[in-house]
Amino acid sequence: MKIKYLLVNIILLISVSVFSEVGDTIALIPKPVKAEFYAGKETFHITPATVIVARSHSARSDAQIFNDYLLQYYGIRLKIKFFCFSGKNVIRLLHKHHTRHHESYIMNVSKSGIIIKGDKSGIFYGLQTLKQLLPVEKSAGLSVPACNITDYPRYSWRGMHLDVGRHFFPKEFIEKYIDYLAQYKMNTFHWHLTEDQGWRIEIKKYPKLTEIGAWRDSTLIGSYSSMPHKFDHQKYGGFYSQDDVREIVEYARKRHITIVPEIEMPGHSQAALASYPELSCTGEKLGVAPLWGVFDDVYCTKDQTIKFLEDVLTEVIQLFPGKYIHIGGDEVPKSRWTNCPQCQAVMKREKLKDENELQSYFIRRIEKFLNSKGKTLIGWDEILEGGLAPKAAVMSWRGTEGGIAAARQFHDVVMTPGSYCYFDHCQGNPRYEPLAFGGYTTVEKVYSYNPTPDELTPDQQKHILGAQGNVWTEYIDSPQKVEYMIFPRICALSEVDWTPLSEKNYDDFKGRLIRHFNLLDNYHINYSRALYEMKLIPMPSSGGQGVNCQILAASGTGSEGIVYTLDGSTPVDKSIKYTGPVEIKKSSTLKTAWFKGGKQKGYTIEQQFIINKATGKKITLANPPDDRYNTGGAFTLVDGIWGIIPWFGMEWLGFSGKDLDAVIDLGSEQSVSKITVDVLNAENSWIYLPASVEALISGDGINFTSIKKVSADEIKRLNRAVVMDIPPSKARYVKIVAKNLGKIPVGKPGEGNDAWLFVDEIAVE
Ligand code: ACM
Ligand code: ZN
Repeated sequence: MKIKYLLVNIILLISVSVFSEVGDTIALIPKPVKAEFYAGKETFHITPATVIVARSHSARSDAQIFNDYLLQYYGIRLKIKFFCFSGKNVIRLLHKHHTRHHESYIMNVSKSGIIIKGDKSGIFYGLQTLKQLLPVEKSAGLSVPACNITDYPRYSWRGMHLDVGRHFFPKEFIEKYIDYLAQYKMNTFHWHLTEDQGWRIEIKKYPKLTEIGAWRDSTLIGSYSSMPHKFDHQKYGGFYSQDDVREIVEYARKRHITIVPEIEMPGHSQAALASYPELSCTGEKLGVAPLWGVFDDVYCTKDQTIKFLEDVLTEVIQLFPGKYIHIGGDEVPKSRWTNCPQCQAVMKREKLKDENELQSYFIRRIEKFLNSKGKTLIGWDEILEGGLAPKAAVMSWRGTEGGIAAARQFHDVVMTPGSYCYFDHCQGNPRYEPLAFGGYTTVEKVYSYNPTPDELTPDQQKHILGAQGNVWTEYIDSPQKVEYMIFPRICALSEVDWTPLSEKNYDDFKGRLIRHFNLLDNYHINYSRALYEMKLIPMPSSGGQGVNCQILAASGTGSEGIVYTLDGSTPVDKSIKYTGPVEIKKSSTLKTAWFKGGKQKGYTIEQQFIINKATGKKITLANPPDDRYNTGGAFTLVDGIWGIIPWFGMEWLGFSGKDLDAVIDLGSEQSVSKITVDVLNAENSWIYLPASVEALISGDGINFTSIKKVSADEIKRLNRAVVMDIPPSKARYVKIVAKNLGKIPVGKPGEGNDAWLFVDEIAVE
């Protein structure tokens, strides 16, 4: 008994010690369900004499792809055989027909060889894991640590999307993109093929879609919110021939990836309407859009358009063998339909009570057609409005509410909520990041996502197929920038989709990711280093005026090597050492940098703080901001940091359809003569100036007296900072009520939807 006990202990000790040794170099992403490494056992060495044994057609194709990788990365090519009588120096790929989990594999590495046993995609995923077990160093011997791995995915839809409408990416890059998905065990590529700014897929029956629709005369330069808009006046475009599509579909299939094509309707269709104006409500001749946004001209709902779309889909269905066809359905202004006799006649004929029901009718007809061809319709969450088509799957992007509502109706759902899954947002401080769409989505935020909402019952939860990262390309005009925007967030998402919830741990992931960067360096991938960025976290001051600003090191641990200045000078090695939150009592610029071994790592962070009587004080909000624009919470409004324009998610609080109703406790009675509320005007992003701003004061925090109210006209004149000079008063509490514009008026961008109100700072002087 005793000896057995001792033996067990020794084995445990060995495997633990080896684990940490291996752990210093190996970084499996996504983290497998279970992986045990054995230090005591010898590693396996891949040599030119190593044979891969693969018997099924599929395993041979997987082996071929793995072999191509070995040749490309290490300059070594192995033999692939049907049989091998020798038990040594073999990588065996064994097909398992009945597995408890879909897409699963087990892998055993011992001195004599490697066995990967799995179902069809499982073998491929085992080989992806094997790639990550090989040395990053190209010149090193190809040793593989002894281990046992059991692995299978958490979700069946592990997706990445790419918009090729706003910018076009060549076939070669699409294949590279598919390789990126494959290396993180993703299985779905959502290919957004049609947009206002370009139609990108050849349709034989309607050649003008690519002769006209694939080309625009001009493209917006810079940010949408920088006014006035400037254009480059250069012809831009491109499209994929049906032969290209077939090649890409086959390329993806070999990597166990299904392509879900998206043909947008009824909105985001200006390129199609430019090609065939008779498909719109007005018949007016339009160009392919040079500007980003949501446009009023959408497909007319008349039978002629439906026939056109059925013809297009017939060709699309022949090209894409997967189950799903994505039909868009998002962001459809209804103004053209309201004024169109043909749309109104359809509404009468079909007994529809409003234009939402007309959209639903349109989607249902398309669904019926797709179902008749054996396909399932999937669309953005707006397809819930006016009633969901009977068998449709929903992609939830405006938060998770749409996905929750659909799952409650027992429809399948893919989760792509903007604040976690939009990889067109900045992933670091926008001041130091390339131009991006508004929004702030760090790798940590992506990692924190759990696609299965607690609100659902277990039966409803089964309808959550998985999560997907979306890559809209308004500001992504090259393959290098696509790489930058997806790396390393795709690594975090792969773990969201693959790894069991109980195995997820951000600190552990971050450690693996930093090691994985060595591999990305060798792949020459242009990835974001925002993970190394130092962060400033303003907090309430310990007393009196101003804020205390915490500086977080790039690594997220310790403060060794951080220096700063508050006098405007550039921080150097010898500047003030950071030892704890920096007290900022008067308006100043904080500059900080991180030094290691006398060398600066990363860039200098610079932040201006504007300090007034409200800065750092307690603030409470009656209405919480929308989840998507709530970095830093209520304190953001008194943190001394004013938002930058072009705006991004951080620094601004966004309220959808709701008012700002804030009370600031100045801590003691103070004299007050001026109050400023900084608001954003970005109508093209549906962000509107408030309808009014009112300031109230109080001595007890209960009974407030109104001291100033500013009208909509005056706010428009001021445009950004609403400065309110008030008769000198005494107050401890200041309340600000900024009325949201409410429903966006007809004729304005986003008409009929809830307006956004964005506020970044409140100052009291
Ligand atoms: C979307 O982002 N408009 C689906
Ligand atoms: Zn119409």
